[in-house]
Amino acid sequence: MHSVDPAIVPKKKLPNGEEIPCIGMGTFGSDRYDANQVAEAVAGGIKAGYRLIDCAAAYGNESEIGKVFRAAFDEGTVSRKEMFIISKVWNDMHERVEEACKKSIADLQCDYLDMYIIHWPYPNYHAPGCDADARNPDSKPFSVAEFVNTYRQLEKLHNQGLIRHIGVSNMTIKKLEAVWPLLVIKPAACELEQHPCFQQQALFDYLVEKDVLPFGYMPIGSPERPDRDVFPGDIADIEQPEMQQIAAAHGVHPAIVALKWAVQRGQVPIPFATFEPFYYSNLLCTTQDPLTDEEMALIATLERGNRLVKGQVFLWEGAKDYTELWDED
Ligand SMILES: NC(=O)c1ccc[n+]([C@@H]2O[C@H](COP(=O)([O-])OP(=O)(O)OC[C@H]3O[C@@H](n4cnc5c(N)ncnc54)[C@H](OP(=O)(O)O)[C@@H]3O)[C@@H](O)[C@H]2O)c1
Repeated sequence: MHSVDPAIVPKKKLPNGEEIPCIGMGTFGSDRYDANQVAEAVAGGIKAGYRLIDCAAAYGNESEIGKVFRAAFDEGTVSRKEMFIISKVWNDMHERVEEACKKSIADLQCDYLDMYIIHWPYPNYHAPGCDADARNPDSKPFSVAEFVNTYRQLEKLHNQGLIRHIGVSNMTIKKLEAVWPLLVIKPAACELEQHPCFQQQALFDYLVEKDVLPFGYMPIGSPERPDRDVFPGDIADIEQPEMQQIAAAHGVHPAIVALKWAVQRGQVPIPFATFEPFYYSNLLCTTQDPLTDEEMALIATLERGNRLVKGQVFLWEGAKDYTELWDED
């Protein structure tokens, strides 16, 4: 098994000055990999040198991943303090955040969470693995009051020491603007979809200006995403000729180019991979052979507005279409 010394992996800073790795490992099996397969990848990932793992209750694999963490701590592969473990509160637990958080901590066997994220800014629930047409009649539009009520519960957990940082996810500038003055403990990070053909430059700039660290999900363009997130007209980032041309110049797969771009641009990518040579090379690529300024500039031109997670399963009755979830005109 190949590994990268975590000490040489470049670092990013959270608002409190704490340094974290510039890349993490995702754990969403995309309805294709079962919980044990994902847990096995996490076990391999820790051995390969990953120290930041992006988990979520909704991924349905926290107890299997928890066994991997426990074994890694017990065997001395890594200490709890060396790890940065993230989990997320799912939409059906917005009123019972403490219960959800304690369950994730127990399942992950990690004593506390380094970051706890509000997975979606809606309490709108859909069952894991549902299909694209599934709708919940109880779904509602975004509400500042509801969001802040959920956020307050995370602030309480932060004050209790159960979570070290608060994160948000799937937000827009409009929603952040509306809630920002009401947040006592500001979020340390925001997870958002980010890949070369969907860069979200305005939201990215807004987060940086607010000193919120962007975490880029689906950094490779999620080629194996669930069927409900596949639409005609979607663009495959890694098949873009420019990505392939840069990849050839560096002798790597275009996935590696997408990750190098993400790290050099400033977000923390959290790629998922089950195949050891993939997750090893994803980590290694952050330590060597950076993209040139010209290559970075070329990738900046690849923005195509190619949002992959449209989130249509969270829509409420009367909503026009998924663009309402994202406050797009
Ligand atoms: N906050 C949110 O709402 C949210 C939403 C979506 C995702 N996320 C997080 O973001 C993570 C990443 O997103 P994702 O898994 O959908 O997409 P992704 O990381 O962009 O793509 C993962 C896919 O890329 C392939 N891959 C990985 N490394 C590769 C390499 N070096 N060369 C070629 N192919 C490679 C993997 O292949 P194999 O299948 O063969 O391993 C896997 O199928 C998730 O796991 C989750 O933790 C968060």
